[in-house]
Amino acid sequence: MAESFADLRAREYARLDERGHVYLDYTGSGLYARSQVERLTALLHDEVFGNPHSLSPTSETSTQQVTETRRRVLRFFGADPAEYAVIFTSNATTAAKLVGEAYPFGPGGALVLTADNHNSVNGIGEYARAHGARTVYLPLDQEQRASALPQLLPQAAAGAASLFAYPAQSNFTGVKHPLEWVALGHERGYDVLLDAAAYVPTNPLDLAALEPDFVIVSFYKMFGYPTGVGALIARHGALQRLQRPWFAGGTVRFASAQNQLHLLKDNAEAWEDGTPNFLAIAAVPFGLDLLEGVGMARVRDHVRELTDALLQQLAALRHDNGAPMVRIYGPGTTAMRGGTVSFNLLDPEGSLIDSDTVQEAAAGADISLRSGCFCNPGAAEYAFHYPAAASRHCLEGIAPEDFSLQRFSDCMGGVPVGALRASLGPPTNAADIERLGLLLAGFRNRRAAGGGGSDGCERTRRTP
Ligand SMILES: Cc1ncc(COP(=O)(O)O)c(C=O)c1O
Repeated sequence: MAESFADLRAREYARLDERGHVYLDYTGSGLYARSQVERLTALLHDEVFGNPHSLSPTSETSTQQVTETRRRVLRFFGADPAEYAVIFTSNATTAAKLVGEAYPFGPGGALVLTADNHNSVNGIGEYARAHGARTVYLPLDQEQRASALPQLLPQAAAGAASLFAYPAQSNFTGVKHPLEWVALGHERGYDVLLDAAAYVPTNPLDLAALEPDFVIVSFYKMFGYPTGVGALIARHGALQRLQRPWFAGGTVRFASAQNQLHLLKDNAEAWEDGTPNFLAIAAVPFGLDLLEGVGMARVRDHVRELTDALLQQLAALRHDNGAPMVRIYGPGTTAMRGGTVSFNLLDPEGSLIDSDTVQEAAAGADISLRSGCFCNPGAAEYAFHYPAAASRHCLEGIAPEDFSLQRFSDCMGGVPVGALRASLGPPTNAADIERLGLLLAGFRNRRAAGGGGSDGCERTRRTP
């Protein structure tokens, strides 16, 4: 019989309860399990690892370790090595940048994005712009889903490369966008970049069934350790369409300074600049083993069950006058949503309680939440209903040396500039959710300081 999540927590994450921590920031970073550390320590004790780019025995050991880890990553995601390559990067951001800087954008081409991408994907727009391609954002609806996308995704122009990028799960609202959009993107003539960074820590992903061209992940988000290693998982054919803008140590079969010539390697190594983080890469299989041992479908179901409890708990919190205490940004149920829940607290009159005040109270109670906009400006703009023209006026009108979020909020008429985010992972239990509930209940009947601002959901109060 499969080990229960309570036993898993006791065996692998006992430090949480020993230290009294409620950790609810799994979308920020996963937590490493005790066994990962023990297995890595044993490996480092036993083996001698040299720099991988050589033929010495110790170099070979490192090369083998990295090669085996590539295979292991492909297996974990159900990807055929004949179809896909794993390129190790320092994180999901660097993986997105590898695609952005090499993608053959040009006039007539486009980068199409859902409005709720992480900045690490939004930034690809700068490469598109520099090469004369358009960037198009597709809108979100009331629940922060891109439900009109099938109607709105334009046919890509013939003869010009176009890239469609979206998160499998929003790191702001937890919305899960349909994975079927990969096929839709292909039908409409796009290469598809699936940002799986917030999705894969708590959901199974089978690349064989989906065939996205590019997938980006960060391993610390999946299992806490190692930090500093992510991957671009890319179809060989899609990689061939990219144009690497430079070469570096480790990426070439030869280079001639005399003749200013170089020949890139013809595998994943052509994309890995300099010495890979080979000791950290050696730790990746232990994390994958851990998740596979639990079973990703079980992790997904466990997180769904607790997310349901969290959503119900938040919705039930009321002031004595009956007014809701919490505004959730994104879906109120677990249908097509993951375990990332962003919200703000409201006072009895519906005014916003500053998210930093709540975050401070949480920190005082040893509860790790996150506050801010989570590097996802598009989702924040929808959540807080920023009018685009007013927001542009304020962003351009405040001198760079004077810019602060407070100045921006003031300029916008007191709009919120941040939310709170609770996110769940395999170690999360019902007691974690209850402790968060108790903390938030402490704000019952509390007035927002200075009358507070709107939480952004009443348009008339937001016009600057
Ligand atoms: C959806 C999503 N994409 C990309 C990233 C960037 O990941 P990293 O900071 O590890 O590069 C994050 C990080 O929070 C994320 O949640």
